[in-house]
Amino acid sequence: MTVQNYKEALEQEIFSIISEAAGALNVDSYVIGGFVRDYLLQRNMPKDIDIVAVGSGIALAKKVAEKLPEKPKVQVFKNFGTAMLQWNDLEVEFVGARKESYRSHSRKPIVEDGTLEDDQNRRDFTINALALSLHEANFGDLLDPFGGVEDLKQKLIRTPLDPDVTYSDDPLRMLRAIRFASQLNFKIEPASLEAISRNKERIKIISKERIVDELNKILMCDKPSIGFSLMYKTGLLQIILPELTRLQGIEEKEGQRHKDNFWHTLEVVDNISENTDDLWLRWAALLHDIGKAPTKRFDKKIGWTFHGHEFVGSKMVFRLFKRLRMPLNDKMKFVQKMVLMSSRPIVLAQDIVTDSAVRRLIFDAGDHVEDLMTLCEADITTKNPKKFKKYRNNFKIVREKIVEVEERDHVRNFQPPISGEDIMKTFNLKPSREIGIIKDAIKEAILEGEIPNEYEAAREFMLKKGKELGLECRK
Ligand code: CTP
Repeated sequence: MTVQNYKEALEQEIFSIISEAAGALNVDSYVIGGFVRDYLLQRNMPKDIDIVAVGSGIALAKKVAEKLPEKPKVQVFKNFGTAMLQWNDLEVEFVGARKESYRSHSRKPIVEDGTLEDDQNRRDFTINALALSLHEANFGDLLDPFGGVEDLKQKLIRTPLDPDVTYSDDPLRMLRAIRFASQLNFKIEPASLEAISRNKERIKIISKERIVDELNKILMCDKPSIGFSLMYKTGLLQIILPELTRLQGIEEKEGQRHKDNFWHTLEVVDNISENTDDLWLRWAALLHDIGKAPTKRFDKKIGWTFHGHEFVGSKMVFRLFKRLRMPLNDKMKFVQKMVLMSSRPIVLAQDIVTDSAVRRLIFDAGDHVEDLMTLCEADITTKNPKKFKKYRNNFKIVREKIVEVEERDHVRNFQPPISGEDIMKTFNLKPSREIGIIKDAIKEAILEGEIPNEYEAAREFMLKKGKELGLECRK
């Protein structure tokens, strides 16, 4: 077999330095994994480089650091036998070639030293097992024992070993397979897909953080539905995000059907991904309908209803984030707010768009009003072109109105033109209930368009309201 040479992939200075350092230690070393895969796919060159040494990875990392002019610090992970250093914008990880077998209840492997081939054997996919030699004598030679290059051509995700072994060794790989299929638009080999279904329960031994990492990567794909439908078909999604899969299915009663909210959601996520790279807005799209499963009812007169699903859904977001150990910070609050408000512009767009309704929308959504509009536009999945055009157009009108109303009324981050202090002074009041009542009445009057958002008008309104409450003005 002729060996392909890819010297040109290794033009960066770091590779010749590693080659020299390995030569000095008399060990063979190789670039392996994502770097080689992405080079052959002509994707953006990764900043992460994985190096395998047939010998000690830690010793090689230290030797490389010595040779670099800046003498970067080497981070050693003794338990894993790996070491990492950062140089310029690169992150280089070193590992000794290993022969591994995993215990059934844990991801922690029993490790022995091995050959390059042993190491390639224990990698996740054939396309990630490709290695380029850094040895002076065959610098740039590609070592591809499992036909990884052919799989790149065929756009195929395949495991080097029996997939049951590969997945059961490290169950996170089931999600990685799906993530790569989604990112690269590859197919997963049928035997491999079946193995994922068979081994799906083993995903439970993986830490939530690593699972979420993969979910986020899938959500950031051009078409996240590829990954989510694979997770659904293999049964992984039912384990990881049961709130979402409970939306699957269409029920029919007395001739009335509702749409399948699971497949609808995946369409919404694909739609929004054409318009935003904001991970959290994509999460909002994914979760915007989760309240529909617990709120679904059938009413003889009006058919299927999901009353209050937005509120229930926003509460579920908190529990879901907590369970998956996701951040319970302003990102989570943003997702909750989007879910809670997800129907607001829709209701608006079905009707004549009044200024006061738009003011209320801006007031409630604050800085997130554009994101909310982006979500609602993505939510239009009707296959009826007439309806699609109509909804699209209505949202366009809402967007224009938002700009117009905000320019005039400034309610986006509403600051009341009359403060509580002003009210106390005017009526000679101590802190009391009346102040709240008047403040609220002013806010309502502005949102309803009874008065403009200005001091003079608000002051006049306050005096009138005070009179109604029987308050006397200070002399
Ligand atoms: N690997 C593996 N099993 C895992 C994780 C990683 O076999 N569960 C191997 C693969 O050979 C992979 C390499 O380790 O190519 C590096 O892993 P990682 O940096 O996580 O992935 P990349 O392939 O580099 O891809 P990406 O950066 O897109 O995650």
